[in-house]
Amino acid sequence: MNPQRYLVTSALPYANGPIHIGHVAGAYLPADIYVRYLRASGREVLYICGSDEYGTAITETARKLGKTALEVADQYHAVIRDGFAALGISFDNFSRTSRAVHTETAQEFFTCLHDKGLLHEQSTQQLYDPELGKFLADRQVRGTCYHCGDENAAGDQCEKCGKDIEPLKLVNPRSALSGATPEPRETKHWYFPLGDWQPWLKDYIGSRQGWRPHVLGFCESWFTEELRSRAVTRDLDWGIPVPLPDHEGKVLYVWFDAPIGYISSTKEWAAQRGTPDAWRDWWCDKEGTKLVHFIGKDNIFFHALLFPAMCEAHGDYVVAEDVPANEFLNLEGQKFSTSRNHAVWLHEALERWSPDDLRYYLTTILPENSDGDWKWADLRERVNGELNDNLGNFVQRTIKFIGQYCDAQVPVAGEFTPEDQALLDTLARLPGEVGALIEAYEFKRALRTVLAATSEANGYFQHQAPWKLRRDDPARCATVLHVCAQVCAAVSVVLGPFLPNAQTKLWALLNLHGITWDQAGASLLTAGHPLVREPEALFAKITDEQVEAEAARLTSPASPEPQPEPEPEPKYVTYDGFRETQLMTATVVAAERIPKADKLLKLQLDVGGKPRQILAGIAQHYQPEDLVGQTIIIVANLEPRKLRGEVSEGMLLAATEDEDVVILTTLRPVRSGLEVR
Ligand code: MF3
Ligand code: ZN
Repeated sequence: MNPQRYLVTSALPYANGPIHIGHVAGAYLPADIYVRYLRASGREVLYICGSDEYGTAITETARKLGKTALEVADQYHAVIRDGFAALGISFDNFSRTSRAVHTETAQEFFTCLHDKGLLHEQSTQQLYDPELGKFLADRQVRGTCYHCGDENAAGDQCEKCGKDIEPLKLVNPRSALSGATPEPRETKHWYFPLGDWQPWLKDYIGSRQGWRPHVLGFCESWFTEELRSRAVTRDLDWGIPVPLPDHEGKVLYVWFDAPIGYISSTKEWAAQRGTPDAWRDWWCDKEGTKLVHFIGKDNIFFHALLFPAMCEAHGDYVVAEDVPANEFLNLEGQKFSTSRNHAVWLHEALERWSPDDLRYYLTTILPENSDGDWKWADLRERVNGELNDNLGNFVQRTIKFIGQYCDAQVPVAGEFTPEDQALLDTLARLPGEVGALIEAYEFKRALRTVLAATSEANGYFQHQAPWKLRRDDPARCATVLHVCAQVCAAVSVVLGPFLPNAQTKLWALLNLHGITWDQAGASLLTAGHPLVREPEALFAKITDEQVEAEAARLTSPASPEPQPEPEPEPKYVTYDGFRETQLMTATVVAAERIPKADKLLKLQLDVGGKPRQILAGIAQHYQPEDLVGQTIIIVANLEPRKLRGEVSEGMLLAATEDEDVVILTTLRPVRSGLEVR
């Protein structure tokens, strides 16, 4: 296919806890490398994600912490979002499935399938808690395992023997919520008959090109039997209400609504940039959009079978062109385990490690076609040996040399020798080779190709010995350094998708910016181009102590269960303190956007007959014309401030909900200039 647009998604992480580097290796870093490359090569790309906030796991955590499910989701949404930002994962939008746009989108999806007659209703038996008066999710039931006799098996799986459990078969079942003995009751649910889509799915999977063998194999193994119908509703109180009359207490199954989150996150992105219909260009143009889902292998069923079938049934939406699922990452030879604290949490690792070191090492061990293993000692070896001694050192010595002996300007090249030409040929091939590997989702090999080029360049530097040529043959020395400078420039471009921070630094040293992928093959620096005279190092070496500290952390006692946080002490202000802040009503007389400041609106106010101008960061939430005539509340005695060359004399009050902003007004229109208390 020759797409006009690339729509790239990473699995929506559960907002039920922080994420660890195993997750990052699965669905996020590879996707980020891919989209950064596509952007650099001038392709139209949209990279979509958000947090997955429904499901019984979150309800369970909330119960343990004495919080509401939404509070848990709020907390982890923020932790996860900030961790991604710090690592440089460059989503175009990171939404939440608890937002209104998602409720609407998921309900519309359900209604569409329902109205087309593509769902069917069926009665089943489910355990009911008579004390609480509600149905129990599988995980909310405990009892004696009918495989191994363990008395504390959960209703979906026995932790002792690892086998699947059917909750109705548990011996001595009890409600994990109330302790009561649950009883089977009849309930009705809506089912999506996946079996009806099996022929279509076989065709779909069969006609995809270049899928990873383990993903294809997994899909094909499902086709050996008829695919079962999947319940798409649940009896729960945390989830998206089923949009049908007489369905109180029923919500959409989390795996039904979550992938629809890709669509709603795109809608939110479109609305936020002021083009609310633009999401359709991405989701409804089946010929023009290449949709790629990055996930871990435990999500293959949902992304390669269930969601494509749902989209095909719905009819309006594009289906995935590829699902480059990754296998699992281990940690020091063992599985990640939250309960044993055998994990490296992203937000914690970022407190101690540079994002580029983490990104570099993780890319070298991505579990693309087999499981990978994170080892701290290995990280040190690679960062020190490859990033510092190979790449960093080459750049450093080249720029330093030119700084010292060529007045920090790229020297003029004479005629190229076969050795020069060989290295220049490597450079000319580099963007094409690295790009092709990235497009084939071979990120490990792509990065290795970049490092192979700098390794070749190091050999060249060593062999040509410019420090000798400087005295013996200055013209030849100039040519060699010219070639070396071109290496730095070409590498700065192809390094970007992997190590965006190093790219920024390197571009500063080389006095370059905004070079596209296609330009990278040609020589980027002309003779006389100024470089930084004394380059700072791009990377820093890792010490043994740092590695030992990480090993100690892994073996330190676990903190398995999340602990309730103590209520923070209230911070009081005095009455007098509060009275110092003058709040007043004000009427908006005029409002306009400020050129080049896409967040700011300039408001002209009337405050008790006196004019006043304020600037407010609300341009992405309000149209100027909608504000005129409104009565708002301002802080009237705030120190005037200059923003973008305009004076702001005060601040308006507004509530922020997630990223949304809602301006405070009075319940009925009142005069301006009134004191607010
Ligand atoms: N929250 C799921 C997980 O972490 C992934 C959901 S992906 C989506 O395994 F497509 F459903 F959103
Ligand atoms: Zn068991």
